[in-house]
Amino acid sequence: MLLCTNYTFAMTKGYQMKKVILITGARGIGLATAVHLAMLGYTVYGTTRNASDFEKILSKDDLKDKLHFINMDVRKESSVKNAIDKIIQNEGRLDVVINSAAIGVYGPAEEISLEQAKEIFDVNFFGILRVLQNALPHFRKQGHGLLINISSMAAIDPLPGTDLYSASKYAVEGLSESMAGYLSLNNIKVVLVEPGPVNTQFIAVTSVVGKRLLPDKPYGDMSQKIYNLHKEILAKGQDPTEVAKLIEEIIVSPNPNPRYQTSTAMQKIAKKYQVDPTGVQSFQEKKQFAKEVLGMGS
Ligand SMILES: NC(=O)c1ccc[n+]([C@@H]2O[C@H](COP(=O)([O-])OP(=O)(O)OC[C@H]3O[C@@H](n4cnc5c(N)ncnc54)[C@H](OP(=O)(O)O)[C@@H]3O)[C@@H](O)[C@H]2O)c1
Repeated sequence: MLLCTNYTFAMTKGYQMKKVILITGARGIGLATAVHLAMLGYTVYGTTRNASDFEKILSKDDLKDKLHFINMDVRKESSVKNAIDKIIQNEGRLDVVINSAAIGVYGPAEEISLEQAKEIFDVNFFGILRVLQNALPHFRKQGHGLLINISSMAAIDPLPGTDLYSASKYAVEGLSESMAGYLSLNNIKVVLVEPGPVNTQFIAVTSVVGKRLLPDKPYGDMSQKIYNLHKEILAKGQDPTEVAKLIEEIIVSPNPNPRYQTSTAMQKIAKKYQVDPTGVQSFQEKKQFAKEVLGMGS
């Protein structure tokens, strides 16, 4: 009996390990996840705007043939399409897409220029839209797929002064939750991952402050303060490999929740705001709606 269970486990593992995974934004959380999954034997494609930065990582023996870095700028439709076409060409399939690419703009909305506001939505929201529009046809053809969108606690409990960043993450949450029910009827799972502070270069390198300077400076140096505070908080944040391990759990789970917080501290905050912190209840309701009212999945 034990032998049989182990065999079944190995078969399941073996099947899992054949999965082909795309991760956009392969620095920080994306890189930790890419390396973690590749070390486990998955075939992983991490994207960046500068694949040559990653050559050193690829020299590690245990990552050879399992981890690949390819260029993708999520603001450009052709760049997203080319990257996904390349994966399909090389592997013939795409099982999991993890949307991690994002930027930050900090400060009060009034101090953020419209160009900056459009840019953050172009990357954080439209970037995900471009990726999913190119990935979903493959998921449908295969009859399965898992889409993991990295959101943020900023979409549940935004710190004051994170206005545009939070707005972009709320948009990701709305998009994901609205899709999850009806896509599940095609065996396509949509999952939100909501990290709290994670020790990456997200603030130091990837984020900026608003540059719409107001003549009377009604907010004083609030933008810089919120930026500096985030930089400090992130430096004390959780290790990105903890997020990577949670993502692994989601990938192997036959029935993942629609939504995950990445630490118990963040789960507590989410509970304060939501009576349904896992999203299961509202997911079931949406699925039912898609079936009964929209006539899907029949
Ligand atoms: N760190 C945190 O505390 C924290 C907390 C909550 C949520 N998050 C979320 O976690 C995700 C990952 O963040 P991180 O902390 O890992 O940040 P990170 O280390 O700064 O990585 C950000 C990634 O986004 C990519 N990116 C930016 N603009 C892009 C574009 N136009 N096209 C393609 N890729 C682009 C960067 O790509 P390049 O390689 O080309 O530079 C980089 O790989 C983000 O969605 C972020 O909002 C982070």
